[in-house]
Amino acid sequence: MTLQPAPVLDGNVIAAEIEGRLAALDEVDSRRLKLSAEIETLLGLVKARQVEATSPEGRSLLTVLARADKLTREVARDETCAALNITPRAYRRFLQTLAPARPKAEPKPAPEQETKPETEAEQVGRVDDGQSRYLVENGRICAVTFDRNGGRALVPLCNFAAQITEEIARDDGQEVSRVFALEGRLDTGQPLPRAQVDSVQFAGMRWVAAHWGVRAIVRAGQSTTDKLREAIQLLSQDASARVVYVHTGWKQIGGQRVYLTSGGALGLDGVEVSLDEKLQRYRLPLQPTQAREGMAASLRFLDIGPASVTYPIWAAMYLAPLTPILTPDFVPWAYGPTGSLKSTVLALALCHYGAFTRNTLPASWEATENFLEKLAFLAADAPLCIDDFAPMATHHDAQQMERNAIRIVRAAGNRSGRGRLRSDLAFRPTYSPRGVVLSTGEQLPNGTSVLARIAGIEFAAGSVKLDALTRAQAEAELYPQAMAGYILWLRDQWEHLTTTLPVTWQDLRGRVVGAAHLRVPEFFATLYLALDTGLSFAVETQAITELTAEERRAQGEAALIELAKAQGERVQGERPTLRFLNVLRELLAQGKAFLKPTESTNMAGECLGWQDEDYLYLLSAATYNRVAKFCRDEGGYFPVKATTLHKMLAEEKYIRTPAEEGLTEGGFLSQYWADNKNHNVLKLYRKAANL
Ligand SMILES: Nc1ncnc2c1ncn2[C@@H]1O[C@H](COP(=O)(O)OP(=O)(O)O)[C@@H](O)[C@H]1O
Ligand SMILES: [Mg+2]
Repeated sequence: MTLQPAPVLDGNVIAAEIEGRLAALDEVDSRRLKLSAEIETLLGLVKARQVEATSPEGRSLLTVLARADKLTREVARDETCAALNITPRAYRRFLQTLAPARPKAEPKPAPEQETKPETEAEQVGRVDDGQSRYLVENGRICAVTFDRNGGRALVPLCNFAAQITEEIARDDGQEVSRVFALEGRLDTGQPLPRAQVDSVQFAGMRWVAAHWGVRAIVRAGQSTTDKLREAIQLLSQDASARVVYVHTGWKQIGGQRVYLTSGGALGLDGVEVSLDEKLQRYRLPLQPTQAREGMAASLRFLDIGPASVTYPIWAAMYLAPLTPILTPDFVPWAYGPTGSLKSTVLALALCHYGAFTRNTLPASWEATENFLEKLAFLAADAPLCIDDFAPMATHHDAQQMERNAIRIVRAAGNRSGRGRLRSDLAFRPTYSPRGVVLSTGEQLPNGTSVLARIAGIEFAAGSVKLDALTRAQAEAELYPQAMAGYILWLRDQWEHLTTTLPVTWQDLRGRVVGAAHLRVPEFFATLYLALDTGLSFAVETQAITELTAEERRAQGEAALIELAKAQGERVQGERPTLRFLNVLRELLAQGKAFLKPTESTNMAGECLGWQDEDYLYLLSAATYNRVAKFCRDEGGYFPVKATTLHKMLAEEKYIRTPAEEGLTEGGFLSQYWADNKNHNVLKLYRKAANL
């Protein structure tokens, strides 16, 4: 009925309140006061969002001013110029261009009351961005068009009205993505369910059908989608904004270091955390009141089984929050036969971070690589247990699981530094583990490179004491009290720890002698330091005396050294050269292969070459292939290619190379004359190979 209604800041609490109070006042005064309240509100908005004059908020403010009387315009000038960062001259120009071009038929803007649209839906949805390009009429979002005579026409863009009620920023610790929460209503009045739409998908408008189904219709037409997008955004300028964190662990919020779990942030009120379904059990009390009782209970975990089992697992729990300082670049891996309580014990340990049972561990090796990778990324500064690395029925499944393990363990072992990744969309971020990844399995995965990144924790059948385990399970709900207290204690001395722990780590690394692989002493040092830090907190809470803590330290150190040594030997045994020789020995012993001249009467096997007193002359390709086949038949695989193996055999002095015989050609392979021709052979020292 009327044109150019005075702008209304829909949903704005202040304006609404003022409007309510003014209802009783007479019409003229009401309009004037309303106007200044609006100006004030808009000014506040502009300042808070630090927007420019051309933004919707800036335009709204300038439009309101353009319609105000001269005095109001003068009074508001300086503040508006400062807020929008424009000159007084620009201010005047803006007001001139935005002054309403009043249609001739309308001599005066109509009073506020008369501009109210007829229905509720229209009132809620009306847009005024200065030019009223869109508004809601009869429950539909419409584009406003004017003809030459100033006559107005409305073109519906869809058959509903919708608004973004909330803009949700989801922070995964590496990237922030935005999600819009939309609410709407069909023109029949039927409410539409709240829809959460990724901001990237929003503009395309395909989400309309996806969330609201067949009845919500976007009109056809070339630019309709784009207009509707604009209209909804303009309609939603007062949408509230909030940040939701979707990862666990440390985060700087408002200059404070806090630790996130499902329940919120330790150390700061009012932080919203929304974790993946699989991580929702990670929940720590925000205000721990029983750190001492919790710590006492937590320490009793150490007594449920052999020290070689309990200490490394306990240390891993207290290591997780130290991740930013002591990178846990290895995977504690509980292995042993089915029923040896691996899952049960790890679930109990995980109870330091929430309520877990062996059936509700956060992840399983059967999941896809991508999923596991993402989970290990989101479970930052926390332990993530991947359950049940078991032999699979089919070769395909077995390979899949093996690939998973290789990828996750390698990623844990070589985690890339944080902040290395770009938020630039062209670079899809990769997800490195950000906490302690643990695993259970009937076996360890194959391959030196993987094994070297694993801290194998052996569960022998019957080694865990059932009565102690049962008692520990009964008091596990106290563990989070200990962990929350520990985390807050770490927070309070974070700077100090950042400088001291790495130095101590360097010293400790030197303590493990004779461990084969470089990484083994490193993970010993990391676990020991975590154990030490956890025990220091236990003393701090007076759960134990310093003397008892010292005993625990000594016990833990012995257990961890034992673990490191066993691991060192395993890695050694997995060296490709040793594996090659072991398999070769096995093949010869079983008669599956033989060398000429042979004493064996069993000629059913494959001939792999020749021998004399000092050397074996192994047909290089045939031998490699036979060894690789043997590994495959066992369900594994040979870890390196033939050329790599030859190089390693030469480096470790198992073979005599042509170069050593003064020849310039031949690489690692020698020539052997037999059966009237030359053969490429590995000239293996009989003694060195123990054959
Ligand atoms: N406190 C307990 N006392 C006796 N049995 C238990 C206790 N806790 C768990 N169990 C049982 O031990 C069995 C094997 O445990 P599980 O952790 O699944 O072994 P694994 O993972 O090594 O195959 C399960 O059937 C479980 O119910
Ligand atoms: Mg299990």
